Amino acid sequence: MTGEPRPAALTDLAGRSAIVTGAGSGIGRGIAQMFAAAGAAVVCADISAPAAEETAGLVRGSGGVAKAATVDVSSRAQVADLVASAVAEHGRLDVICNNAGIIIDVPVLDLDEAELDRVLAVNLKGVLFGCQEAGRAMAAAGGGSIINMASGAVDAAAPGLAAYGISKAGIVQLTKTLAVELGHDGVRVNAIAPGLIETSMTRRHYARPDGSVDEDRRAAVLQPMRKTSPLGLIGAPEDIAWAALYLASDAARFVTGQILRPNGGTSMPW
Ligand SMILES: NC(=O)c1ccc[n+]([C@@H]2O[C@H](COP(=O)([O-])OP(=O)(O)OC[C@H]3O[C@@H](n4cnc5c(N)ncnc54)[C@H](O)[C@@H]3O)[C@@H](O)[C@H]2O)c1
Repeated sequence: MTGEPRPAALTDLAGRSAIVTGAGSGIGRGIAQMFAAAGAAVVCADISAPAAEETAGLVRGSGGVAKAATVDVSSRAQVADLVASAVAEHGRLDVICNNAGIIIDVPVLDLDEAELDRVLAVNLKGVLFGCQEAGRAMAAAGGGSIINMASGAVDAAAPGLAAYGISKAGIVQLTKTLAVELGHDGVRVNAIAPGLIETSMTRRHYARPDGSVDEDRRAAVLQPMRKTSPLGLIGAPEDIAWAALYLASDAARFVTGQILRPNGGTSMPW
């Protein structure tokens, strides 16, 4: 410790600018709200314009600074525009959380090329584009924090999740490689590999066709998952948002190339 510990100051993002992709729902919304609560001006980017607007409205309603952006992260041009407009508005980009992602449940032998391409385009290329555009801007400005959303799927194989798992494993290697390449420019690059978090992504297992939650089915799905955690917990978006705040902030100035696993202890890699 090089002086008095000042936890609140170290996690303060006042004066910083941040982009969160997939901010219209679930984990991304939680992260956008957390970054804004810590003082950052946040661009809430999502492929769904109403969802992005809703998150930005929630942030502003709590006294934060946010604007919405409609972006498909699988488009390099749209991601380039997203980063360029954040830099133009704030003079710099301090944090990007490449969080947008999709999932499909298809066994390997049934996986067709178009389905695989779609998952890789959003989950892997979308993250790559965010890393490239933000990485260039941050390196030119002398620093920044890139946070990529991986998944617990990188630690365990689950039937039907090959396309998703491949995309998330790719994010891990991309994160570590970029951390090595950009460290000398002051840019930290880390990933988060969440365990099960209740969001619209997980609700697909227990939603009725009309979108409402089947509570019996929900209990049947979540109970065995809960048992895989030594804490007996299923996560919430804010559990991941706290991890993202840490990685975004100066408290993590010595942390790069790491895969942080907020997962209730469901996996403990060496
Ligand atoms: N929920 C979990 O249990 C869990 C676990 C591990 C990792 N993750 C990862 O966390 C991230 C967020 O997941 P979530 O659970 O909040 O899901 P979610 O479905 O609630 O939210 C995903 C958001 O991404 C947006 N999105 C989808 N495609 C996009 C695109 N092409 N461009 C821009 N935005 C797009 C959606 O509109 C949505 O708002 C994903 O990368 C997911 O793989 C989730």
